Amino acid sequence: MELFEAINKRFSNRKYLDKQVSDEDLEKILKAGMQAPVGRGKYEDMHITVIQDKDLLNEISGLTEKSVFYNAPTLVIISSKDDGHGLDKENSACVAENMLLAATALGLGSIYLNLVIGLIKEHKEVLDKLNLPEGFVPIVGVGLGYADGSHIREHEIKIDYM
Ligand SMILES: Cc1cc2nc3c(=O)[nH]c(=O)nc-3n(C[C@H](O)[C@H](O)[C@H](O)COP(=O)(O)O)c2cc1C
Repeated sequence: MELFEAINKRFSNRKYLDKQVSDEDLEKILKAGMQAPVGRGKYEDMHITVIQDKDLLNEISGLTEKSVFYNAPTLVIISSKDDGHGLDKENSACVAENMLLAATALGLGSIYLNLVIGLIKEHKEVLDKLNLPEGFVPIVGVGLGYADGSHIREHEIKIDYM
C-alpha cells in the first residue's frame, strides 16, 4: 500500500478477529517501529515488548472492567529510559505511529493505547512480568490484529498560514 493511502486508511480499531498476526507481518511492523526518529538517536533507550501470550493478555484485560486493548491478539508495549531530556513520550509516540502505519499498509487493524499503560504501571505484579531492563518505563501500547470491520474517518486540524 502506498504511504498516503496507509495514512488515510489508518484508524483506531476497537474490534478484532480471533486470529493472530503472522510472524512475518509482526516482524515488518516491529522493524518499521525501529526506523522511527528518536531524539538524540538514543535507540538504546527504547525497548519493545510483544505480548501474545493469552494468559498474560487475559491477566491484563482482567485488571479492569473497561476495555483497554479491545482483545487485540497482539499487544506491543513501547518502553523508554528517560535520560533526563524528557523525550521518552515523543520517542515512543514516533515508534508507535510507524507501527500503526505499517500495520495499516499490511491490511491489519491497529490502535494507539494509553490507558493500558497506566493500568500495567498500577499493578506491579503485571509490570514485573514484562521483565523490562533496569530503568525502563512503559510509555505507549499498540494493539495489533485483524480488524472486524472497517471505519471511514477524516480529521481536520486548524491551520494558520503566515
Ligand atoms: C496519545 C494517544 C493516546 C490514546 N489512547 C487511547 C486509549 O487508551 N484507548 C483508545 O481506545 N484509544 C486511544 N487513542 C486513540 C484515539 O482515541 C484516536 O486516535 C482518535 O480518536 C482518532 O481516531 P482514529 O485513530 O480512528 O483516527 C489514543 C491516541 C493517542 C494519539
